[in-house]
Amino acid sequence: MTTLLNVKDLRAYYGQVQALHGLTFSLNEGSLTTLLGANGAGKTTTLRAICNMVRSTGAIEFDGQPLGSRSTENIVRLGIAHVPQGRGTFTAMTVEENLQLGAITRTDKAGIVADIERMYAYFPVLKQRYSQQAGTLSGGEQQMLAVARALMLRPRLMLLDEPSFGLAPLVVRDLFKILGKINREEKVSILVVEQNAQLALELADHAYVIETGRIVMSGSAKEIASNEDVRKSYLGY
Ligand SMILES: Nc1ncnc2c1ncn2[C@@H]1O[C@H](COP(=O)(O)OP(=O)(O)O)[C@@H](O)[C@H]1O
Ligand SMILES: [Mg+2]
Repeated sequence: MTTLLNVKDLRAYYGQVQALHGLTFSLNEGSLTTLLGANGAGKTTTLRAICNMVRSTGAIEFDGQPLGSRSTENIVRLGIAHVPQGRGTFTAMTVEENLQLGAITRTDKAGIVADIERMYAYFPVLKQRYSQQAGTLSGGEQQMLAVARALMLRPRLMLLDEPSFGLAPLVVRDLFKILGKINREEKVSILVVEQNAQLALELADHAYVIETGRIVMSGSAKEIASNEDVRKSYLGY
């Protein structure tokens, strides 16, 4: 198996405050990996550090290339799409305009049109609402739009920050099912950070647990889910 993302001794800082304390983990090409942890553990910061949106030290390699001092835009162009916490869709634009904006770095017009149709096949509700303003969509629909927009980049790796946040359990289940399908069919590797450990472990193949900026546990999602001590100590269910 090929390693797609390799993170070594990652430390991140907000001014004087250190949020990550030497995080080391990796993600295999094609994998759906979850990073679990409580509120404040450093999940968002980890994704932001990968995209060079926060001051950090350590080594991050994507497909064998050091991300080092590359700009966020450059990192996106390498094939890493980031769906931030709170989704970040353009609420005053329509669904379809959001999807087109997701492809802004591309010039293959026919490919873009075909990809929009593919996204509508994964998320039929977005097709129904293609001309509706994103801000008027439900929370679940907005999250779907955020994922679809990220995929319009044709990324090799998609980073998802708490996609389940604020969504009803049934909606989360639906969304996660589609994420699994996208992972398998589109060959997009996915790193999803979640507080909702139970659902994320059903979705993922590999899992890491982060606590105050350090990885405290890792293993296959099955192993982690079936380890009662880990569940009780770190995952709270
Ligand atoms: N903009 C910020 N300024 C200062 N400290 C921050 C900022 N954002 C996050 N932190 C701190 O960094 C730590 C990790 O936060 P975060 O990565 O957001 O955690 P999580 O996403 O797991 O809830 C927390 O202690 C948090 O208070
Ligand atoms: Mg967070």
